[in-house]
Amino acid sequence: MKISAYLLEKYNVPVPRYTSYPPANHLTGHFTEADALEMISGSNTTGSPNIAIYLHIPFCRRICHYCGCNSYPLHRNENMDAYVEALKKEIKLVARILDKSRKVSQIHYGGGTPNVLPVSLIASINDLIFSEFSLTGSPEIAIECNPAGMDNRYINGLLSSGFNRFSLGIQDFDPSVLKLVNREIPETDPEILVNYIKGSSETTRVNLDFIYGLPGQTVESFSETIRKASKIKPDRLVTFSYAHVPWVKKNQMVLGKYILPSPEQKAEMFHRAGEILAGMGYMPVGLDHFVLPHDDLWIALQSHQLHRNFQGYCTKRTTGQVYAFGVTSISQLENGFFQNTKDIPAYINTVNSGKIPVEKGIIITPEQKIIRDVINDIMCNKRLNFSEFAQKASISADRLIEVTGYNPESAEDLINDGLIDIQDDELQVTETGAFFVRNIASLFDREFRESERKYSNPV
Ligand SMILES: C[S@@+](CC[C@H](N)C(=O)[O-])C[C@H]1O[C@@H](n2cnc3c(N)ncnc32)[C@H](O)[C@@H]1O
Ligand code: SF4
Repeated sequence: MKISAYLLEKYNVPVPRYTSYPPANHLTGHFTEADALEMISGSNTTGSPNIAIYLHIPFCRRICHYCGCNSYPLHRNENMDAYVEALKKEIKLVARILDKSRKVSQIHYGGGTPNVLPVSLIASINDLIFSEFSLTGSPEIAIECNPAGMDNRYINGLLSSGFNRFSLGIQDFDPSVLKLVNREIPETDPEILVNYIKGSSETTRVNLDFIYGLPGQTVESFSETIRKASKIKPDRLVTFSYAHVPWVKKNQMVLGKYILPSPEQKAEMFHRAGEILAGMGYMPVGLDHFVLPHDDLWIALQSHQLHRNFQGYCTKRTTGQVYAFGVTSISQLENGFFQNTKDIPAYINTVNSGKIPVEKGIIITPEQKIIRDVINDIMCNKRLNFSEFAQKASISADRLIEVTGYNPESAEDLINDGLIDIQDDELQVTETGAFFVRNIASLFDREFRESERKYSNPV
């Protein structure tokens, strides 16, 4: 599946990433601690009973120029103990509101770089969670790690504190690319780390993250990186398209001095990566994930149980409503989202005074819930059956079209361009359309088409 220059020209336009709907830039400051407390207690009786816990560790030893995450450079005398103590207090503040019969199905440490914390501190957070909540039979306990700074001892510490999914950020195996983007070169070959983790037990899973579109990358060099990755056989492999948003992420401005790969080159990098991975037995899932057939995401996709949250693709079984802790973290509950303050000292002080450190949020309207579920279906399952959806949502097909602002004429354009098929009341994303699935989802996002917010390009 090659993407033509015509399609790139027409569809490579700013569009939300849809890791959530409404997108994170809809959160406003007109959201108070009282709103957050009400939303948390309301989540006991609406939405999924499963509890997913997200913990944000914002620190990084060095900031990569391309980074789009909420990361902060680690200062020499950073008080990580104080941050971790605040995290634990915040967990306790929320735990006391949650219904004790609800169970934790997922714990996810993201960042920043969680593995900058001494492993004993991470273990102490897990211990607190294990004592405050009861867990489902097989919870997923995952951590995002930078292979730089990892060794077998550290991995052993994580394994014995309960982790069963490790996500390593590789980005590119070529050291010259890593150098250009100010990324640390791992001391230990990531292949050795992956083999060590995989050798620890049959049920421990490994994900590897890559980014295409960075300076210094060529179609050939990125293909080589993916070839090497596929031989290591991670359970899951993610190829992110580099999102260049220097108006939000000032650290990315440095990359303005390089000629970045063009959209055509990026499309080719993605296409070649897909071919290499298919040849090695990987199945495509969602926008940018490739997984081995035993992987939960592939199994979930077969029964339309694939889901998406701020942490990326997940399954409806493992994830539930997301309760997020730490600076900048976003709780994603049935009735809305709210985000914590971005300021580390303010976060610690607020939590220490017994308050939820919320900075902004949004209450989701019934109409937005309909749009959210439609977009989720398209982003995850690459299909939408209009009457089936309307029936499930207990609305008429006309109401579905009215709420989403769906315009059959715009859909006609996508059909003519080969991005979607519509037959018997069902919209299907084609193989080519999968590359522009964000554009297709935006057909149902009335607010996006009527607003002037800025977004990154899909490619
Ligand atoms: C929090 S980081 C992972 C953990 C660790 N900090 C690391 O870099 O290895 C999450 C992932 O987001 C991806 N990422 C970061 N900035 C991005 C950007 N601007 N565009 C696309 N992907 C990005 C990277 O692949 C990275 O591995
Ligand atoms: S990519 Fe990872 S290590 Fe690099 S700055 Fe972002 S969060 Fe930190």
